[in-house]
Amino acid sequence: MDTRTSIDRFAGAGGATAGLFLAGCDIRLAVERDKDAAATYSANFPGVQLLSEAIETYTPSYILEKAGLQPGSLDILSACPPCQGFSTLGKCDPDDDRNDYVQTVEALVENLRPRALILENVPGLDHDPRSSRLKASLHSIGYGVGSWVLDATEFCVPQRRRRFVLIAVSGLTNDEIADPRSSYRCADWPDHPHTVRDILHALGPPTAGESLHAARNLPPPILRRVRAVPHDGGSRKDLPESLQLECHKRLSQRGAASVYGRMAWDEPAPTITTRCTTPACGRFLHPEQDRPITLREAAAFQTFPPTFCWKGGVMHIARQIGNAVPVRLAHLLTLHTIRLIRLAEGRSVSSQQLGPDPSPPRSPKTATPAIPSV
Ligand SMILES: C[S@@+](CC[C@H](N)C(=O)[O-])C[C@H]1O[C@@H](n2cnc3c(N)ncnc32)[C@H](O)[C@@H]1O
Repeated sequence: MDTRTSIDRFAGAGGATAGLFLAGCDIRLAVERDKDAAATYSANFPGVQLLSEAIETYTPSYILEKAGLQPGSLDILSACPPCQGFSTLGKCDPDDDRNDYVQTVEALVENLRPRALILENVPGLDHDPRSSRLKASLHSIGYGVGSWVLDATEFCVPQRRRRFVLIAVSGLTNDEIADPRSSYRCADWPDHPHTVRDILHALGPPTAGESLHAARNLPPPILRRVRAVPHDGGSRKDLPESLQLECHKRLSQRGAASVYGRMAWDEPAPTITTRCTTPACGRFLHPEQDRPITLREAAAFQTFPPTFCWKGGVMHIARQIGNAVPVRLAHLLTLHTIRLIRLAEGRSVSSQQLGPDPSPPRSPKTATPAIPSV
C-alpha cells in the first residue's frame, strides 16, 4: 500500500479520517474543537494526535511540528470546514463567520505546502466567491485544481448526498485533475449496500439495551401522525387533514415535502442531516415501522462500520453523524487523490491511465470494512 502522510483539519467524529485510514494514510494529526466529536474521534482513532482547541489557536508551524513534518513533506491535507453558512438548510448567509474557514484553509495550504488538498462542503460553496478565490490562490502557488458537485450515490454510498468537492494537487495542471467519478463505477462494488433495504436488513431490528440502535420514543400526538404516513415513501403530504399540522397546511404541496417522510425500501436514503432522527426534520422514518431511524442506522447510511464508537448525548451524536463525510466517499476520494499525487511525482505514466482502481476493497453487505483502531 502507498502510505501517505495526512492531517485532518475540522476532523469531527472522523468520517474523513476513516476514509484516509482505509486508503492507507498515516494520519499524523487532527484538529477538532467540539468536545463530543473529539471524544468520538479519540475513541476510534486513539493513535492519532488530536488538537482539541479551535484551529485558529494553532500556528501552521506548530501544526507541522506536532505532526513531525517539514514544510512540503505533508502528502494530504483534508479539510471539511463547517458548512452551515453555505447550506440550503441554514440561512445561506454570505457573512456567516464560519464561511471564512475556507480562507483559513488557503492560508494553511500556503504554509504547509501539502502535495494535495481534499476539501468537502455543501454545494452552496460552488457559487460562492470564496471558492473562486480559493481556486485562484491555489493555482497561483502551483496547484492544479478540480472541483465538482457530486452525489455520494455515485461513490456507492447508499444515500443521496450532493456535495462540493475540491481536489488540488501540487505540480499538476487543472486539466490533469481528473474527475473522481472517472475512476470508480458502482458496478465495481456489487457487494456493497446501495439501498435502504440493504442497510436496514444488514443491521437487523433495534436491540433492547443497545442505546445507539434503539428507536426513539415518540410523544403520542407525533406517533399518531407517524402511524398514518403510508409505508415505503409516504410523507406529511399523504396525511388526512385532521392529522396535518397548521404550519404544513399553509405550505404548498411541494414545500417541505419530505417532512414526516418514510424512507423508500428500494432507494438510497435521503441526505442524513444533523437532525436525522427527528421525523419533523425530513424523511427519517423507517419505511414500515412507526419510528425514526436509529443512530446506528443513520451512521450506516453514512457508511460508518457498525463497530464505530460514538460519544455524547443522542442529539450530539446525530449532529456528528450528519456532519460527517461518508466514509466510503472519503475513502474513494483519497484513493483518487493518491493516484493524482503519483501522477505528479512522475510515477504514473499518464493521466489517461487513471482508470478504475485495480482492486476495489470488498466487504460483506454490512457496510465499509471495520476500521481498526490506528
Ligand atoms: C463538517 S464538520 C467535519 C466533519 C468531519 N470531516 C467528518 O468527516 O466527520 C466540521 C467540524 O469542524 C469543527 N469546527 C468548527 N469550527 C472549528 C474551529 N474553529 N476549530 C476546530 N474545529 C472546528 C466542528 O465542531 C465540526 O465538527
